[in-house]
Amino acid sequence: MTVMAPKILRIDGSTRHSNSVSRGLTDLAIATLQDQFGVAHVTQRDTRSGIGNISSAWRNASLTPNEARSSEDRAVLAQSEALMNEVAAAELLLIAVPIYNFNIPAALKSWIDLICRDNVDGGRADNLVGQSKNKQALIILTSNYTMAHADDDFATPYLKFMMKFIGIDSVTFIDATGLGNDQAGVLARARDAVKTHCMKIAETWDKQTAAE
Ligand SMILES: Cc1cc2nc3c(=O)[nH]c(=O)nc-3n(C[C@H](O)[C@H](O)[C@H](O)COP(=O)(O)O)c2cc1C
Repeated sequence: MTVMAPKILRIDGSTRHSNSVSRGLTDLAIATLQDQFGVAHVTQRDTRSGIGNISSAWRNASLTPNEARSSEDRAVLAQSEALMNEVAAAELLLIAVPIYNFNIPAALKSWIDLICRDNVDGGRADNLVGQSKNKQALIILTSNYTMAHADDDFATPYLKFMMKFIGIDSVTFIDATGLGNDQAGVLARARDAVKTHCMKIAETWDKQTAAE
């Protein structure tokens, strides 16, 4: 029997490469999924060196209907086209988000700007709910002192909204916030939560894909 493994798009938001706590947790998620499925299909999009920003030319090209776009428009949109294709191909978005200044890292915000392209001016999440039925997101949130869901956590509500906006209903957050208070305890609980959730993905994946 062939076991279908989810296609994973891994996005790391930390500017740190070595000793990155959030990367350690995404590594663990990939390792657990690989263990469960025997294979892992991973595309990695690392934002640590920045990813570029949208511009006026980009916006104009984006709002120009596809058939009317010039070759310059297409060149301006090429990167976002590639990033959007990565999202479209993925079945699991695995996103590591260290909280920076009470929100997500700027490069991760740029990635979101680049993938939310068409119909974005005045777009409403309500119109898009459930569009990506076969996709799910696993978001790993880390911080030193800003606690998930506290008044100063703008990352969680923003990401919840944006996942809905891009059409993903099934979103799980792993809470590794408050590392500055109790790094060992927070990490131990987060590692358990990552493993449990990835094992649950493996348990339900076959049934879910068979039902489609
Ligand atoms: C620019 C910057 C801003 C930060 N802002 C916050 C913050 O607002 N609240 C907080 O608790 N930690 C803050 N931190 C700490 C990071 O959230 C923490 O180092 C990170 O979650 C650890 O994950 P990493 O090791 O994968 O980078 C900030 C770190 C940086 C570099």
